[in-house]
Amino acid sequence: MPKLYDNHGRIINYVRLAVTDRCNLRCFYCMPEEGIKYVPQKALLTYEEMERTIRLLVSMGINKVRITGGEPFVRKNMMDFLTTLSQINGLERINLTTNGTLTAPLIPDLKKLGIRTVNLSLDCLDKARFFEITRRDEYDNVMHTFQQLLSHGIETKINAVVMEGKNIDDLIPMARLTKDNPVSIRFIEEMPFNGEGAHYQKLTWNHKKILAHLKTAFPNITKLQDPPNSTAQHYQIPGHQGNIGIIAAYSRTFCGSCNRIRITPKGMLKTCLYDDGVFNIRDIIRSGASDHQLKDTFLEALGNRAKDGFEAEQKRSFGLPITESMASIGG
Ligand code: GTP
Ligand code: 5AD
Ligand code: SF4
Repeated sequence: MPKLYDNHGRIINYVRLAVTDRCNLRCFYCMPEEGIKYVPQKALLTYEEMERTIRLLVSMGINKVRITGGEPFVRKNMMDFLTTLSQINGLERINLTTNGTLTAPLIPDLKKLGIRTVNLSLDCLDKARFFEITRRDEYDNVMHTFQQLLSHGIETKINAVVMEGKNIDDLIPMARLTKDNPVSIRFIEEMPFNGEGAHYQKLTWNHKKILAHLKTAFPNITKLQDPPNSTAQHYQIPGHQGNIGIIAAYSRTFCGSCNRIRITPKGMLKTCLYDDGVFNIRDIIRSGASDHQLKDTFLEALGNRAKDGFEAEQKRSFGLPITESMASIGG
């Protein structure tokens, strides 16, 4: 298989594909209560356009796709699309990030498609707080998905965004879940992608503060070796089955080994989470471009990549502060 590099010599083998900006939750850190203005249906990449793009990227060196959203399973016929992706030669891994509200009944079929890892968004272990954070009464469904993922032997990572005044009391109970469950609990620095920009003043809980907090309950927590290109720094409480990850998403400590690009629901290619999009794949496809032309456009974009998330943020032409919702980016 060919290898794809950016202008900083980093290998690019991972694409995050956001299949929709629609979501059935209204998480505080992602959207305002009234929701966001969704992209009109016609402006979304079609499944055919996504398939063509992924096939092309795989032929160029991508071997991992993460399906994100919005919530992937609110898009109709999602399982058919996953089936199509599962048949692409050279695509070694299809991973999912889901909010877990609709996922439980699909798990046996996901497993049949060869999906081995699921990242589940869950920020607390309390029904009332879940409602406060997500503004929807879906806690029981999400917990059911969690149990089903474990009982089907799917490698499960829980994503918890750490928020002052919202879920700090949950961090230690969540870390305790690693005792008897082979799960990775990942605590994520909150980023400003909340669809309004308003309530994000500054980062309160950075990765160091999260670790210090965990150490108050687990003084023997030990550092594990991180897999290559990992966003998370991994730790383990001695004797526990699972592990704990801390993701410095706002401090951006892992850009030096960044191996990923993103495709938004309306087809923008982002070569960094913090940029405002480099070119629109949908427009190029709909203008009748050949695969060859599309490939050249990707190569040019990868040859002009910011060195890290700070440079990408600084170069934004939309300006600052960031006001997009994570649902329109895919995380
Ligand atoms: P793995 O493939 O399992 O390592 O997952 P992942 O961490 O790449 O993906 P996931 O969708 O679970 O994202 C977890 C958190 O990490 C989310 O808050 C993402 O926004 C954040 N994240 C993922 N990739 C990047 C990145 O490239 N840069 C930054 N700053 N944050 C990222
Ligand atoms: N800051 C940090 N992480 C976020 N996510 C969504 N919005 C934010 C934000 N503002 C995370 C969710 C989801 C992942 C794809 O992105 O936890 O699991
Ligand atoms: Fe890559 Fe940008 Fe994320 Fe850094 S902030 S890891 S460069 S996507």
